[in-house]
Amino acid sequence: MKIKSFEEYLSTYRKSVEDPEAFWSGIAQEFHWRKLWKKTLSWDFNDLDVQWFIGGKLNITENCLDRHVLTHPDKVAIIWESNEPTDIFVKITYRELYEKVCQFANVLKNNGVKKGDRVCIYMPMVPEAAVAMLACARIGAIHSVVFAGFSANSLADRINDAQCNAIITSDIAYRGNKTLEIKQIVDEALQKTPSIQRCIVYQRGEGKVNMVEGRDTWWHEEIKKANKEFEAEEMDSEDPLFILYTSGSTGKPKGVVHSTGGYMVYTKFTFENVFQYEENDVYWCTADVGWITGHSYIVYGPLLAGATVLMFEGIPTYPDAGRFWRVIAKHRVNIFYTAPTAIRSLMTFGEEFITPYNLSTLKVLGSVGEPINEEAWQWFYKNIGKSRCPIVDTWWQTETGGIMISPLPRITVQKPTFATLPLPGVQPIVVDNNGKEIHGNGVEGNLCIKFPWPSMIRTTYGDHERCKQNYFATYKGLYFTGDGCKRDEDGYYRITGRVDDVINVSGHRIGTAEVENAINQHIAVVESAVVGYPHDIKGQGIYAFVICESKPENEEQFKKEVLNVVTREIGAIAKPDIIQVVEGLPKTRSGKIMRRILRKIAEGDTSNLGDITTLLDPTIVESIKEGAAALR
Ligand code: PRX
Repeated sequence: MKIKSFEEYLSTYRKSVEDPEAFWSGIAQEFHWRKLWKKTLSWDFNDLDVQWFIGGKLNITENCLDRHVLTHPDKVAIIWESNEPTDIFVKITYRELYEKVCQFANVLKNNGVKKGDRVCIYMPMVPEAAVAMLACARIGAIHSVVFAGFSANSLADRINDAQCNAIITSDIAYRGNKTLEIKQIVDEALQKTPSIQRCIVYQRGEGKVNMVEGRDTWWHEEIKKANKEFEAEEMDSEDPLFILYTSGSTGKPKGVVHSTGGYMVYTKFTFENVFQYEENDVYWCTADVGWITGHSYIVYGPLLAGATVLMFEGIPTYPDAGRFWRVIAKHRVNIFYTAPTAIRSLMTFGEEFITPYNLSTLKVLGSVGEPINEEAWQWFYKNIGKSRCPIVDTWWQTETGGIMISPLPRITVQKPTFATLPLPGVQPIVVDNNGKEIHGNGVEGNLCIKFPWPSMIRTTYGDHERCKQNYFATYKGLYFTGDGCKRDEDGYYRITGRVDDVINVSGHRIGTAEVENAINQHIAVVESAVVGYPHDIKGQGIYAFVICESKPENEEQFKKEVLNVVTREIGAIAKPDIIQVVEGLPKTRSGKIMRRILRKIAEGDTSNLGDITTLLDPTIVESIKEGAAALR
């Protein structure tokens, strides 16, 4: 079902709110189910129990692959552009993808993976990452993709939390001019993960890695023994499809669990509508499969829709800052979905990197992951879209599974920096800090959703209570997003950013507590407090205030060590941009750190720090301010 006009959007939206069950059950009919559902929805936000398409039986890969093999087997499913900008690239048709997935499903089975098992995927951006995900889905195993930039410790934590029994990885990964020793990281992680029985290694480089007898095996060796047909496992609509770890306000990342039927229905519906995908379009999303954007809008959404999706292994600035535009011209990309941080970074290189390339095939541009500032929006619109391509500023989260608030291109009147209006089936409300709904337009508050949508989070793996507490307890009866928002006079939503202790660095979610826990591992550190601050390119930067046992003799050296510890504990993406050694932290008498003050200092806005008289030691603020000024 594709909405074609604003009137149609309004009437569809109205129907979706008046009778959500009829609305979604109509959309769900478009898919192949082995057995239809008996009841469309049952829900309870207080005791967190949400089920969609109850009793429905299916396998999502039959909808991603088998259906398309019947109708258009030779259509290209995946175009793969490698890190190196050579003329050679890979095209995989739906038939070929089907065969690869079936073959790898057999490999998993041969290696002892069964329905319901958890399988970790730690891979670079190669088509085999998508094959591995779909092969898991085909046999009914739950995949847990971990972004291949996370450290061995982070990887081990995630494997242990989900008790994965197999991991799929590669020997190395290419990222720009760097070669990352992925398998070495895995080897280190696997020393702490007793549940892992098998490690299947895809050879991306020369394959010169250590292979552990009885545990490790090569992808290419395994597929030689595997058949290209695999009868898909029958899954219940509510069976988990995948786990994806994301950061929250507490120290430990949580495994967001998505289920099969609802996720399938929602990702295809939103993909087709938000990007207005047409039959022969080439669609490119620059995310990594390690994040939810990669799951929903590189793998599942586009393949469910039978689209041609481009997968890119490299980075925007290799071999130069024209790489994105070169790829768009080379593959005649029609729809381009990226993150504000990439746009802001490429803006700084100037237009000479764009002009050599023909971008006339572009029809729709998209933005995701963080608020897009007006300057970046305008630059993207004018320089890349040549003032003729609408930008869809899509707001959503790992937990929502799919896009929630977004314009529909050429349908919704766009407004820079606004995600605009909710998609059909999405019922946002704005509440004040007491959870009271703020009615009307021209208002600001906390963004909540009051009614279930098919691809919403079902639980956090192994800890349902935590999921309830995290998302459904702050405001009774509502899903709380953790975001603040404005609703303007036109009823348009603008997301203003996180209101909890989560920071958004280059579109990556990082919990301040996680970074603090990592920094505190440094032997000389007594305590630390981490806050976000505005950063020109990254959106938010990480600012760490650190108390040491004694003043470091060589502060530069100490800071380097702290960065290394964070890289070791979490990964390079969580490295603080600024580290300030302080003598104390602004604490209340009950020992709580007043982060509000630290945030202000990190922002460089110390004119009005508010009431500091309740602090145990108000003089500490002066010394932190002075230290911060000296760092700038
Ligand atoms: O703060 C919001 C921000 O990213 C958070 C979700 O991060 P994650 O789960 O990693 O998923 C990112 C990709 C969907 C949100 O709570 N965010 C995401 N999209 C936008 C956004 N903030 C403003 N505008 C957006 N379009």
